Amino acid sequence: MVRRIWWLTVVSLLAIWSLLPSSHVGAAASGKLEIFSWWTAGGEAEGLKGMFTAYQKAYPGVEIVNATVAGGAGTNAKAVLATRLTGGDPPDSFQVHAGLEVQKYDPPKYLEPLSGLFKSEGWEKVFPSGLLDLLRYQGNYWSVPVNIHRANVLWISKQVFSSNYLAPAKTFDEFFKLADTLKAKGIVPFVLGDKEGWEAGHAFEAVLIGTLGADGYRGLWTGKTAWTDAKVTQALNTFKRMLTYTNSDHAALTWDGAGQYLIDGKGAMEIMGDWEDGWFQSKNFTGYGWASPPGNAGVFDALSDSFAMPKAARNRTNAQNWLKVSGSKAGQEAFNPKKGSICARTDCNQALFNAYLQSSAKDWAKDALVPSVIHGAAAFESWATKYKDAMALFVTSGDVAKTQAALQAACKDAGVCK
Ligand code: GAL
Repeated sequence: MVRRIWWLTVVSLLAIWSLLPSSHVGAAASGKLEIFSWWTAGGEAEGLKGMFTAYQKAYPGVEIVNATVAGGAGTNAKAVLATRLTGGDPPDSFQVHAGLEVQKYDPPKYLEPLSGLFKSEGWEKVFPSGLLDLLRYQGNYWSVPVNIHRANVLWISKQVFSSNYLAPAKTFDEFFKLADTLKAKGIVPFVLGDKEGWEAGHAFEAVLIGTLGADGYRGLWTGKTAWTDAKVTQALNTFKRMLTYTNSDHAALTWDGAGQYLIDGKGAMEIMGDWEDGWFQSKNFTGYGWASPPGNAGVFDALSDSFAMPKAARNRTNAQNWLKVSGSKAGQEAFNPKKGSICARTDCNQALFNAYLQSSAKDWAKDALVPSVIHGAAAFESWATKYKDAMALFVTSGDVAKTQAALQAACKDAGVCK
């Protein structure tokens, strides 16, 4: 009888244990975890918080230190991070774009190779092969992707378009006609906030795609398309004309500050990545629509955020667990709906995502994919920076010939053009 009671107790304890949430699996973990990113804007911050919550559910004893350096596209964060890495004072894990951007941080010297983790977590089966190719550098994976963002989205104010019976422009000619109509009504046609210096280069990616097509644009980063091509001249002229339709305070605004024009119904269109979807959500704004920028239909200008682990990370076990959560279904489902991105994994539950993100997931599966240069996917950081700076200067200089020469020189310095 006593034996039977003892046995029943053991069986029921085991049953209760198996029903406990997975949070208890890592209950023993303790100490700190410092996560470095530039996610401070609305949507970005909420997404990150979502992933922190997923982590804390699994490892409640760990104190997360949210180390952010504000500035879209990592404008300020990347330099701070490089200094910390080389100075032997790295965070436990940091944000880096999937692609050639990682080269900036000298992976073999400073980063933990993660191919073993990719194997043990089965990630080679759940991340798309194109993304895995982008992540591989010198024969290893160095970071874990959390999402896929789309850079070439034309965000529109639904109120402005519907109250004026307008439709988004499919071609640049249509865009200029539309812009004239809007301007005559006192509405800013093409909203821009280029305070941080990367935003013009971001919008210009879409103009290059719309002018050269997917293959032509891709070729710019591989040497197949010459930067001296007449179509690049055409794209610069088009962009120069687009810039005559922007808000006069553009140089004082960040990307999200500029988005306020759409919320207020004072501006009609903004070319920005789909973190703007996360930002609109954080503002409880639902009056936005989306379309392809002119000439961009069927082309997905892609980038992916990922997390890496420095060799000198202080809290190694906690950092490893962070990477595991970053790559997990639970982590990605907690992060992406708020961040305004789709999962890097292919098995997320689509019902958790809003209409925009569901449409993006469909496009990701069928569109021609091209890499974003401003967001680390197309070129080494040194080349991307030269491209960015040339385009930031172009906003004030408007000098087509000089800018095209600078873009060509940047490609030459990178050893890709002759
Ligand atoms: C991108 C990053 C996005 C978003 C954006 C604006 O570079 O990949 O996650 O944060 O910058 O800050």
